[in-house]
Amino acid sequence: MTNTASTSPTAKAQIGVTGLAVMGSNIARNFAHKGYTVALHNRSIAKTDALLAEHGSEGSFIRSETIAEFVDALEKPRRVLIMVKAGDPTDAVINELADAMEPGDIIIDGGNSLYTDTIRREKAMADRGLHFVGAGISGGEEGALNGPSIMPGGPAESYKSLGPLLESISAHVDGEPCCTHIGPDGSGHFVKMVHNGIEYADMQLIGEAYDLMRRVLDLPVADIADVFAQWNTGDLESYLIEITAQVLAQTDADTGKPLVDVIVDEAGQKGTGRWTVKSALDLGIPTTGIAEAVFARALSSSSGQRKQAQGLAGGTAGTAPADKDAFVDDIRAALYASKVVAYAQGFDQISAGSKEYDWNVDRGSLATIWRGGCIIRAKFLNRIRDAYADNPDLPSLLLDPYFRDAVESGVDAWRRVVSTAALMGVPVPAFASSLSYYDGLRSERLPAALTQGLRDYFGAHTYQRIDKPGTFHTLWGGDRTEVEQ
Ligand code: 6PG
Repeated sequence: MTNTASTSPTAKAQIGVTGLAVMGSNIARNFAHKGYTVALHNRSIAKTDALLAEHGSEGSFIRSETIAEFVDALEKPRRVLIMVKAGDPTDAVINELADAMEPGDIIIDGGNSLYTDTIRREKAMADRGLHFVGAGISGGEEGALNGPSIMPGGPAESYKSLGPLLESISAHVDGEPCCTHIGPDGSGHFVKMVHNGIEYADMQLIGEAYDLMRRVLDLPVADIADVFAQWNTGDLESYLIEITAQVLAQTDADTGKPLVDVIVDEAGQKGTGRWTVKSALDLGIPTTGIAEAVFARALSSSSGQRKQAQGLAGGTAGTAPADKDAFVDDIRAALYASKVVAYAQGFDQISAGSKEYDWNVDRGSLATIWRGGCIIRAKFLNRIRDAYADNPDLPSLLLDPYFRDAVESGVDAWRRVVSTAALMGVPVPAFASSLSYYDGLRSERLPAALTQGLRDYFGAHTYQRIDKPGTFHTLWGGDRTEVEQ
């Protein structure tokens, strides 16, 4: 196996990776473990050499110092995976590569790029005869090394040559790769963005469930860790529930307290959740669970305001439920139902994005590739896959018979949890907004009729009637008769 710069002109690499921070290094090693020769490039050669020194014996690598050397080390059509910071650094590497590559070559952006940037870049590269693939990659450092979930967009033609490589390094569930061609141009990064939005919602819901057990039931953290471990053996089985049990079980070495009690309670964010919500607003899709999760992180980080508001009264309306076990079970049901809502909304956003950009994203295939490798991997993605297999045009996941039944059977528990939280003054924005969304969706009449009346009153914005076609306006400032527009 080659682990240094190749001197033989015939020893070409099947894939190149540029950007060798942890994610890039791990993906390069993953390719090498699968038997591919991997050309390595990094802006500073020190990182390339460090990777070769530590892991060079794991497979076949070709070291390159310059972009020209890097491109020359690749077999044609060349395939280069960029793993650098989203934004300007990605544009800089793309431009440098494009100058050195030839028509038919493929540039893959594996970072968390904004999908509109990917649309722009794909167009620019297509004009130069190059294929550009925006690929969402999920799974963190561990996934990158041992099998991530990969969501490549871009031209279908490029997937023919690229797909087998990506599929071979991806996670596999029941023998199926967690990688599929998502659709044209920005579709891969769009679905990765929504994946991250769902990840935000999932984590917020988990946080609320934890907080309820802590503040309403006064359970010790170690017991809550056990509850999550227990939940991970049932319908809620998922990576995030599994690691919640582990984080909660961790004791801080310095203080002997649960680690969670010494971590500053201000949640960071790099932007993909915010992008999801902005896109949801543009598409007109009520992705309320994700929005609440993004806003909850923002509230947590408003430390100055929070400090000053700490003395505000919470009232005395609530009492803790007497039967703690029963309430823990209610929380489990509320978590599951709210999670179904978050996924239903996320998949609605994907449908809307797909329609808007003409991507033809297959929601069932997406659920399939999210079953393994990615951060939101979960047992219930099998159910989502089945739901779209049974009905590819399903209007909402909540209308699939399985999910409908699961949510309906938990709805009383969900209401008990949300009302108890409100009475006890414990914030549950994601639980509560998911329940309100559910109630909104199933309501025969909504107060939007009044909104329309008000809009017509102050701005003559008109309204439709339920009993006849047409557009109407009431002469609010006159005799209040109705006129047809
Ligand atoms: C993944 C993760 C990954 C990253 C998030 C974290 O799918 O592997 O989502 O993309 O960990 O971007 O996002 P925040 O820093 O915004 O929480």
